[in-house]
Formats: sequence, structure tokens, C-alpha cells
Amino acid sequence: MSARRSGRSAGRTLEFLDVTDLADPLLVVNDLHTSFRSGRGTVHAVDGVSLTVSRGKTLGIVGESGSGKTVLARSIMGLLPTRDVIRSGTVQFAGHEMTTMAPAQLRQVWGAQMSMIFQDPMTALNPVVRIGRQITDSLRLHLHMDRREANATAVELLRSVGIPSPEERVRWYPFQLSGGMRQRVMIAIALACAPRLVLADEPTTGLDVSVQAQILDLLEAMQNERHMAVVLVTHDLGVVAKRADEIAVMYAGRIVERAPTRTLFAHTHMPYTRALMDSIPRLANPSGTRLQAIGGRPPDLIHPPKGCRFAPRCAYAQDKCRESDPPLRTAASSDHVFACWFPLVDRVSADGSATSSASEVDREAPSS
Ligand SMILES: Nc1ncnc2c1ncn2[C@@H]1O[C@H](COP(=O)(O)OP(=O)(O)OP(=O)(O)O)[C@@H](O)[C@H]1O
Ligand code: SF4
Ligand SMILES: [Mg+2]
Repeated sequence: MSARRSGRSAGRTLEFLDVTDLADPLLVVNDLHTSFRSGRGTVHAVDGVSLTVSRGKTLGIVGESGSGKTVLARSIMGLLPTRDVIRSGTVQFAGHEMTTMAPAQLRQVWGAQMSMIFQDPMTALNPVVRIGRQITDSLRLHLHMDRREANATAVELLRSVGIPSPEERVRWYPFQLSGGMRQRVMIAIALACAPRLVLADEPTTGLDVSVQAQILDLLEAMQNERHMAVVLVTHDLGVVAKRADEIAVMYAGRIVERAPTRTLFAHTHMPYTRALMDSIPRLANPSGTRLQAIGGRPPDLIHPPKGCRFAPRCAYAQDKCRESDPPLRTAASSDHVFACWFPLVDRVSADGSATSSASEVDREAPSS
């Protein structure tokens, strides 16, 4: 890889000669809060999130619609509206504090060191700019390529993400592409400058299952080739089960359980995590098996319920749950945290109930 592609061009604020120059963990988020002022009151969309992502690893962030996944990803990037937002907490990327960076400094980081694949490519791509130009702009800005080199690189990038006839399609506009192709273009733009961290927000929403797998395989191949860290945001635990090193489960703006993937499946503590698992379609299920939707609705983020926010929907809720908010605490292994007064594992040891037996979950745990 050339010096430019590896990020050695002059004049950059955050410059890393190679991957070993980077601090590890690459990303450290501490007690992040993001709220929006609205006519009805303050929406607490991200409410005290802490997490870390190591170099080259994948963190899956999973939760239902409205749980705060996109706001969290945008808060990490520093891509939030400037009006009516209240935020606090810290985001350290490669040892640099992002929350206090000036906009000009942030623009040097975006695309070059940290990039985002947006949930909806049609709104994220500029509809009146050819796709090739949307890639070359970033290459010229961050890697200081001349027009010719940037054009050639854009064609190669489109080829590498599986766009057929890229020499021709580089001149196309986003509306001329299918949803899957637009998503591939988004990945090409996000990866153009070989960032160290990619935040992929539902990168396969709305695509059919075979295209979903292709896009996720592509992202994984690029990740391995470039030693990138990936934060993979999804509402579908099945999507991250075999792809993430670690999973953080979000509910109502908070992380309620976080563990290495195998541990999360083998020793699920939170009833909400279990409910998400029960909603994953499995090939082993007999045909016609109904998926279990999670009953009830996610809480109002302006006036969240007192106590555990999952209590109104939790089959195991007791009086204590409705009165007092369970703090995040450590499970038997120190890399596993959860927020529940009556975790499923305790229930098994107390009454031998089969509903939450770890051995039952073991059979569903990802093999890697
Ligand atoms: N600009 C905003 N102003 C007010 N509320 C907002 C704003 N952006 C997001 N929200 C609210 O913040 C909460 C979290 O939204 P977010 O988009 O992060 O959810 P999500 O987990 O990404 O959901 P989905 O799976 O549907 O994409 C929602 O209640 C949403 O309505
Ligand atoms: S604290 Fe109580 S209500 Fe909340 S998830 Fe645990 S058992 Fe359910
Ligand atoms: Mg979202």
C-alpha cells in the first residue's frame, strides 16, 4: 500500500504511520449522553453509554427500533445537529478526544480515520453528484490525490466492492443504482481513505437476504484486509451473532448487557437480551415456527418509567424492578456486564427452571 493510502500524507491532524501507532483500545466512549430538546420535553436518546473497541475488532450494537443506536453512532462521530442538542461524556479515538475537537479538525478525521456507513444510502448520497465524484472528493481532500489518480482509485474501489463495469458506473448518479448497489457505493466511500474505524449503521436494512450476506461478507473482507475496527449497528441479533467479537445490547438509550459474543449467547443474563435472541429466525426451527415478537412497546424516552426500563415488558419483573433502576454490574467473567436485579442465570441456580438454562442457550451460541 502506498504511503498516501496508509495515511502518511502531510498536514493531517491525526496521522498514524501504521496500525501499531494507534492507541489500543482504538475507541473509548465514557458516560456518553445525548438528548434533544423537543416541544414535548427532553428526549434522552443516549443515556450514559460507555464502551470500548479494540483495533481490528468488531463490536455489534443491537437493539429495537428507537433504542438510540443511530444517535449513539452519530454521537461517536460528532455528527449531530447543532441546535437543541445537549451532550456530555467523552469519546476518545486513538487517544484523541473527539468531543472537544473544532469542526475543521473533525472534518479531517471523518472519512480519513473514522467513517460511517449510513442507515439510508439514498439520503446519505448526494443525489445530484455522480458516484465517482462522491468518492474522488474524499480522496483528493484527505489523500491529496490529483484528479487522474483519484479517478483511477475510485474505479478500483467500485470494482473491489463488486460494482460491475465500474469504468462506466463511476459516471452514474445514485438513482440509477439498485438499493444493493447504492449500499456498496456507500461502503466504497466509507472505506476510500482506509479509515481505522467504520461505524456501519444498519448497512443491510431493506436489502434482500442474499444481498445482505454479500454486503456483510464484503465489509468483513475489507476489514480483514485493512485491519479496521467496525462498529456494526443492527436491530437483528442474528446479523451480529457470527460476525461480532463483542455485542452491546441497547435498550431505551442505555447498554443493558455487553459481553464477548460467545459469552453473551452462552450465559445470557438480561431477559431483554433473551427476548432478542428468541426473535432470531433459525434454520433448525421446524417450518411454520412463529418468531417471538417482544410484547409491549419500548418506553417513552422523555418520561422513562421509574426503576428498570424493561419492567413493563419483562415476564420476570418484581416489585424491586419497578422501584429501583438496576445498575450495570459485572458477571462471573469480568468482560461481561449486565443491568438486571434478577438475571436469568440466578434464576436457573435458584429454582432449576429450564426456561433460562445456560446449556439450552449453549446450543445456539455461535461456533467461532
Ligand atoms: N433530532 C432528533 N430530535 C428529537 N428526537 C430524536 C432526534 N433524533 C433521534 N431522536 C429520537 O431518539 C431516539 C433514538 O433514535 P435512533 O434513531 O437512535 O434509534 P435507532 O435505535 O437507531 O432506531 P432504528 O432501529 O429505527 O434506526 C428515538 O426516540 C428518536 O425519535
Ligand atoms: S431488573 Fe427486573 S424487570 Fe428489569 S430485566 Fe431484570 S428482571 Fe426484568
Ligand atoms: Mg437507526
